[in-house]
Amino acid sequence: MYNLFFDCFAAFWRRYLRRDLFRKVQTLSFRNLDEISTGSLITRLTNDIVQLQTMVQMLLRIFVRSPFLAIGSIIMAVIISPKLAIILAVAVPLLFIVMFFLIRATLPLFATVQKKLDKVNTVLKENFAGIRVSKAFVRAGYEKDRFHHANSDFTQVSVKTQRIVALNMPILTMILNISIVIVLWLGGKNAIDGSFEVGRLVAFINYVTQVLFSVSSVAMMLVRISTAKVSADRIQEVMHMESEIVNEANPTMNSYKQGEILYDHVTFSYDPKIQKPVLQDVSFKVRPGQTVAIMGATGSGKTSLVSLLPRLYDVTSGRIFIDGTDVRHMDLSALRERIGIVLQESILFSGSIRDNIRYGKPDADDEDVIAAAKAAQAHEFISSMPEGYDTMLGQRGVNLSGGQKQRISIARALLLRPSILILDDSMSAIDMGTESRLQKELAKLMIGRTCLMIAQRISSVMDADLILVLDDGKLVAQGTHNELLASCDLYQDIYQSQFGKEVASHG
Ligand SMILES: Nc1ncnc2c1ncn2[C@@H]1O[C@H](COP(=O)(O)OP(=O)(O)OP(=O)(O)O)[C@@H](O)[C@H]1O
Ligand SMILES: [Mg+2]
Repeated sequence: MYNLFFDCFAAFWRRYLRRDLFRKVQTLSFRNLDEISTGSLITRLTNDIVQLQTMVQMLLRIFVRSPFLAIGSIIMAVIISPKLAIILAVAVPLLFIVMFFLIRATLPLFATVQKKLDKVNTVLKENFAGIRVSKAFVRAGYEKDRFHHANSDFTQVSVKTQRIVALNMPILTMILNISIVIVLWLGGKNAIDGSFEVGRLVAFINYVTQVLFSVSSVAMMLVRISTAKVSADRIQEVMHMESEIVNEANPTMNSYKQGEILYDHVTFSYDPKIQKPVLQDVSFKVRPGQTVAIMGATGSGKTSLVSLLPRLYDVTSGRIFIDGTDVRHMDLSALRERIGIVLQESILFSGSIRDNIRYGKPDADDEDVIAAAKAAQAHEFISSMPEGYDTMLGQRGVNLSGGQKQRISIARALLLRPSILILDDSMSAIDMGTESRLQKELAKLMIGRTCLMIAQRISSVMDADLILVLDDGKLVAQGTHNELLASCDLYQDIYQSQFGKEVASHG
């Protein structure tokens, strides 16, 4: 009854701790998440919390009881025979000293064990997420090795730690047995000559056993507490992570929704200490309702440029304004609600297609969902599926093609009717015909709304009001298609590589 009660308590406690930790993770910024691996987060949310729970459980079970048992038994032993009780005065401190060294030896190992477990989880997570790639590249052998290494590292350290912890029991029994032998040796003679009752001698031995067992449980408890401390620190580390992207004290709620964007000498680096700026001194202005295309080689900073707008990251220097307000002065949720973003990598969740489309607006009705899907050129293929919008997607949308996933992601953003829409290379897997239909629908939908579109194909950007050309983090040119053809070498190069020399000279 006693244990059941405490176990239930510990289970509930674990649940709340896990919930709080999960909530905390939801608040972390992209930068925080860059720092800590998903594998490690999973270990912290599972194993570390279980370690803490076990500690609490043991604490309640043992720590509450053992000291009383030990003290009570010592008193009883002294009452029975003060002379024999001197043995306890030697045995108990001896046990404490041995335990102290045990704990000191294991403590650093526990931290390593948890780190190795992080590694196992990271490898597992990466492997499962990328299993198709590893199969396609026939890298199963390599992956097996990688897992084997992580796994055996983890096992080695765990075994080493447990070996030391396992010394506890033999040492305890040794000290106990030696004490009993001494008690029997000294007390036995008195029992034989009748000056000490045999019953009292047996009772005395029982008390000694009780004392030493209690003391060693307390010591084991200390080992537990020290492992749990490692886990607690790891949980604390997440709990204390502060998203550097937070609302300021009195954010502007900015209700008018024109969608004018101004980048003012923006420089940005993911980690200013170790990385040269990914964006350098970028300035441009987008008027409300304009469609802006962003071009540039891979790694030139396109994704970084647009992720500054909804403050997925904050600028290193310079400022970004929407409708005249610095984004850092705006209310974060209000800001993000205004901006619809389709990330470069389409990320879908397991669930129905309908739920995926209305992810950002769960109360949207079917009509809106269908309208968004139609605009994103997704309605047709969704309707041709046997269960239409109720088709269940597997994990990360495995049962869809790349282009289908992209179109569902676009529908998801369009449903929000954002005043600013960001498409990060979101049509790369969509054929040209579908793309041009999609572009037409977008143009209709986005009247009066601003659209930032990253694209690789000149054909996708020709009609844009403004084209930005990025090269290695610098904005090397901006203008319309015709202006850039006339003035920007890089743009001409891209144009020629896609359309051939002759067309270029005619254009
Ligand atoms: N989370 C990150 N942490 C550190 N560096 C990053 C991070 N994301 C991108 N980078 C670096 O920033 C630079 C610009 O990356 P970015 O993703 O903005 O390029 P991109 O123009 O979008 O390329 P692509 O066309 O391939 O998508 C790259 O050199 C990249 O290595
Ligand atoms: Mg990119």
